[in-house]
Amino acid sequence: MKRVLSGIQSSGSLHLGNYFGMMERMIKYQDSNDLYCFIANYHALTVLPNAGDLNKNTYNAVCDFLALGLDPNKCTFWVQSDVPQVTELTWILTSLVNRGLLDRATSFKDKVAKGLSPNMGLYSYPILMAADILLFNSELVPVGNDQKQHLEMTREIANRFNHQFEEVFIIPKEDIDEKTKLVPGIDGQKMSKSYNNIIPIFDDSKIIKKKVMRIKTDTTEINKPKSINTPLFQIYSLFLDSTEKKDLKLRFETPGMRYGDVKLELFNRIMDYFGPYRIKREHFFNNPAHVKDIMDMGAKKAQNSANEVLEKVRTATGISF
Ligand code: ADP
Ligand code: TRP
Repeated sequence: MKRVLSGIQSSGSLHLGNYFGMMERMIKYQDSNDLYCFIANYHALTVLPNAGDLNKNTYNAVCDFLALGLDPNKCTFWVQSDVPQVTELTWILTSLVNRGLLDRATSFKDKVAKGLSPNMGLYSYPILMAADILLFNSELVPVGNDQKQHLEMTREIANRFNHQFEEVFIIPKEDIDEKTKLVPGIDGQKMSKSYNNIIPIFDDSKIIKKKVMRIKTDTTEINKPKSINTPLFQIYSLFLDSTEKKDLKLRFETPGMRYGDVKLELFNRIMDYFGPYRIKREHFFNNPAHVKDIMDMGAKKAQNSANEVLEKVRTATGISF
């Protein structure tokens, strides 16, 4: 049984990229692994300094995960800020990290290039992420491709600590699925909450339809074959088995296909796929006291694990006296 851990930021509605890139696998893994899953609201703060939104997004993300089948009795599920030990470990690790390591982070550069504020939280985000992972003795970290570099940095930080002090940390590995590692957004770039290009999982059906109908397509005429190297084909493929995918490819390559028809089909497919989960989600969403009990239980479990590792870190560094 492996210790598997991952987190998701509560910086907006969760979307198809999050689901296929990480959530679907996490939910599967709970049956055969020691699964740790959390909502990264300290991380979300780096891009969302608005109390109302952050609070609402965090609650929504919790309800999304529970509705999609994450079972709090089979795993440890918590909200990051309910285990503030992670901020202590972050500070300790910060003293081991050279500026050069953070200067290499492509995710920071991408976000700033998109107009996000270059605050120190966003800049030192990889250290908080390393603390999230190392604090729980994680071995495997299911993520999308965009997080690969953060995992490399986590290993670098863990190795530096183990070398400089004592062998406290387990060296984690990323778990990336080749087929779903980079889900495109409706504009063809990586789908991301920060880029205003998402197809949400659980928003109002009208919003989902609007987003699907806006998936970027080219101006190829109806009577010409269409390229499958496009966001419409790639997003639709996520919902198809291999035979269905072959059929769709053939339709793209056969003159006469209308993008509008395919988009409507995709919209219906999304609604059918997530339909049963929508009903479960309503149930959680309308029972905040029940959701709070679940998260309190998760926080206690996570704190117990965190305290064990943090104690070793405090001793190894000389913080404990
Ligand atoms: P976002 O970029 O939308 O803010 P997060 O950073 O919170 O999403 O990502 C949560 C998880 O979902 C991470 O493991 C991340 O790699 C994965 N993920 C996010 N967007 C995509 C995508 N477009 N394709 C594949 N995986 C993704
Ligand atoms: N940085 C991740 C993202 O943006 C979210 C995250 C925070 C995370 N801490 C983590 C993922 C620890 C895996 C492990 O997607």
